[in-house]
Amino acid sequence: PNIRPLVAGNWKMNGLRDSLAEIKAICEGVEEPHFERIDTLICPPATLVYVATALAENCALHIGGQDCHSQESGAFTGDVSAAMLADCLASYCIVGHSERRTLHGEDDLTVRAKAEAAIAAGLTAIICIGETEDERRAGKTLDVLRSQLSGSVPETATAANTVIAYEPVWAIGTGLTPTTEDIAAAHAFMRQALTMRLADEAQAMRLLYGGSVKPGNAGELMAIENVDGALVGGASLKAEDFLAICEAYR
Ligand code: G3H
Repeated sequence: PNIRPLVAGNWKMNGLRDSLAEIKAICEGVEEPHFERIDTLICPPATLVYVATALAENCALHIGGQDCHSQESGAFTGDVSAAMLADCLASYCIVGHSERRTLHGEDDLTVRAKAEAAIAAGLTAIICIGETEDERRAGKTLDVLRSQLSGSVPETATAANTVIAYEPVWAIGTGLTPTTEDIAAAHAFMRQALTMRLADEAQAMRLLYGGSVKPGNAGELMAIENVDGALVGGASLKAEDFLAICEAYR
């Protein structure tokens, strides 16, 4: 199937009101006709989501959350629900980022519940998976991907409501990336594992690569088979860099 690529930016805990100028600049940039073939998304901190969706209202750029609670509302101080993100006109939500898994102790069951909540709220869930450096050295990369996929991806996942992001933990923010062969192998493996469970939906599901994607390597990374876009951290903070990464699809 013809998969529409997605270039997604995760601002993490970066971005004050000043940063809205970058959202504006990205909005203007993605209006260029050659970006019609891809989807673009910025996930700013929750404090900026509502104003960002207002800014992006008349442009192709989507706005998303970086995390959500698995419940719709209730006594969960400090948390934000998927329904709240949807209410702020967000259309995507990242779940299970390695920083949530490591720093907040989220396991596959938690991530799956969050993905289900995002989907139930009408959002597209971006489910993150990826091996640590130790797991990679021990030759366990594909085992980790298999178990994270089966644990974190809900039965209700479809190509429309779910995106998978492969982010090797050791490649995040380090400037290191796997070889193109390793990325190709990981993505082919994910496609195959997902197809066993989700059949045709898996054939059309977007599989993003994340971890030190930059303007300088985006062309090479996005050309890899079964890589249907990118999840970009640091290089998504500046409109110029983010748009330069999108140029990989020109
Ligand atoms: O969600 C984004 C990733 O963690 C990648 O971050 O592009 O700064 O390596 P990075």
